[in-house]
Amino acid sequence: MEARRGRVVLLAHPAGHSLSPHMHNAAFSALGIAAEYEALDVTPEGLARAVAALRHEPYLGANVTVPHKEAVFGLVDELTPEAAAAGAVNTVVARGGRLVGHNTDGGGFLRALAELGTGYPAGLAEAQCLVLGAGGAARAVVHALLCAGARVSLANRNVARAERLAADLAHLGSASGSLRVCTAHVSSLLPSTDLLVNTTSVGMSGGPDPSRLPLIEPEDLELLPADVAVVDLVYRPAVTPLLAAAKARDLLVQNGLPMLVWQGALAFELWTGAPAPVEVMRNAAERGLHPTGRR
Ligand code: ATR
Repeated sequence: MEARRGRVVLLAHPAGHSLSPHMHNAAFSALGIAAEYEALDVTPEGLARAVAALRHEPYLGANVTVPHKEAVFGLVDELTPEAAAAGAVNTVVARGGRLVGHNTDGGGFLRALAELGTGYPAGLAEAQCLVLGAGGAARAVVHALLCAGARVSLANRNVARAERLAADLAHLGSASGSLRVCTAHVSSLLPSTDLLVNTTSVGMSGGPDPSRLPLIEPEDLELLPADVAVVDLVYRPAVTPLLAAAKARDLLVQNGLPMLVWQGALAFELWTGAPAPVEVMRNAAERGLHPTGRR
């Protein structure tokens, strides 16, 4: 008799157009793992029940996304330091009836950064980074950068929110990099920036401001050094207004797809214990983004 298929779900509301089912089902199938991944539309009222169900066979675990990443925090048995620092869980691993909450966003961010070929993440100890935004994604990214020894400036429209983030990460101490909140306009920081990361939703299609750059005017990009790397965590569209302006200056750029793929790869490894087929997952994510083959 065939063993029962493992199951992983994405807890989301709405379930929407996630690329995760594409990536993970392609990965299960490439490795011959008898498991399936399904996006579930779970309301905030139904979340506790959906998480409790993960304790039982055939669940390997789950991914968690908007708006549940913070709420799942209180529903698991254990949190990793990354999840605790991010204040959010994006991956739940079920083992013997216990649930462990992980956050693979920061790790995924660092793995994606390695693809830039600039010597990161090892070289981050020498790097001056400017992070735009102070939401959930920024928390994971700033935590990862600080643990890699970087000097980080954090800018956000709502400065008090950036200050809260900085206070929450202050416990990392002097063994890690340094973090300061930018209270003035970011333009004064641009000339000394080695790595610029946008974690805001500005520039995302369907987002709050799809045609603008986050916290920066296009002409300010002239202030960046020629060897800066510009990373935008947005991947819809593939070239955001920020990345278009950076490309026009011939700067090194990366959109959010590599981070999406790597956070998924790290989650896959946690559920299965198998090395993730990263290129299979990347191709599946790209096919999910451009189902007709058009860019
Ligand atoms: P995520 O979990 O993806 O980080 P989030 O927690 O909702 O999402 O955070 C969204 C980020 O985008 C925040 O930094 C937010 O800035 P505020 O804290 O000032 O709200 C930023 N953001 C959203 N819309 C913006 C806009 N129109 N201009 C500038 N920043 C914006």
